[in-house]
Amino acid sequence: MPSLVFLRLSRSRALRLFLVSILLPSVSIFGVSLSSAQATTNTKSEVAVIKPHQLKPQSIFSAMNLSTNKADSTWVVVNKRRPLVPINYVPKDLVLPKLVAGNTNPHGMRLRQDAAEALTKMAVTMKSAKAGLLVLQSGYRSYATQVYVHDHMVSKFGLSKGESYAARPGYSEHQTGLAGDLAAVGQGCIALTCFANTKAAIWLAANSWQFGFILRYPRFSHPVTGYDYEPWHFRFVGVHLATKMHFSGVNTLEQEFGLPHAPSY
Ligand code: DAL
Ligand code: ZN
Repeated sequence: MPSLVFLRLSRSRALRLFLVSILLPSVSIFGVSLSSAQATTNTKSEVAVIKPHQLKPQSIFSAMNLSTNKADSTWVVVNKRRPLVPINYVPKDLVLPKLVAGNTNPHGMRLRQDAAEALTKMAVTMKSAKAGLLVLQSGYRSYATQVYVHDHMVSKFGLSKGESYAARPGYSEHQTGLAGDLAAVGQGCIALTCFANTKAAIWLAANSWQFGFILRYPRFSHPVTGYDYEPWHFRFVGVHLATKMHFSGVNTLEQEFGLPHAPSY
């Protein structure tokens, strides 16, 4: 299996990145076809027709660059300095993720199509790994819903603390339809920092990249992201970017794309 070869050979960061670049177009890891993930996130056809040996190490990745500004881009970066444009953006391809066999969506949350399909695959694999049954606590939230979430947090904790938990409407990743708040049946600590110690959270933190998700608000990253540690909040960015960030160790989108840090509005 190519991914095992890749792991055995990974002696240096440079070699790892080189191999990630070369292997990504054709490798399937844990049932996720990277080539199909690429097809769903990349609108440029040249990646599919160029043979890997014709490319310089980083070419495949850079050839598929997506916008970090457009609201409907898989790589859109939304933070306290980067509101959605338009501010009342509504994704066009919201669907109910298929969560079955004990994995659940108790509040009928929707995600964008690619994120929903990736979540379904992740839930199936997480269950097989005996890490728990996935619960989608929150997914797409409209501008209006975020008004409620933000107001609730600010009235409960005050402006400063409340806004380290909840985004203002128009500034939440949940409005992109690409973010999910995850929990696991019977493991408790829903949307609490202690979720990080559950079997599910440990598995998700270690494996979500293989399905195209990143843990968007890591520990100690408030000065960069503007939010406290949220071990439950996963953001779909596609398998290519999630894999790149996993192996490079860069764990925020702001740092990955060299964007200004966003500790406050
Ligand atoms: N809790 C995250 C930051 C949000 O409200 O979007
Ligand atoms: Zn969230």
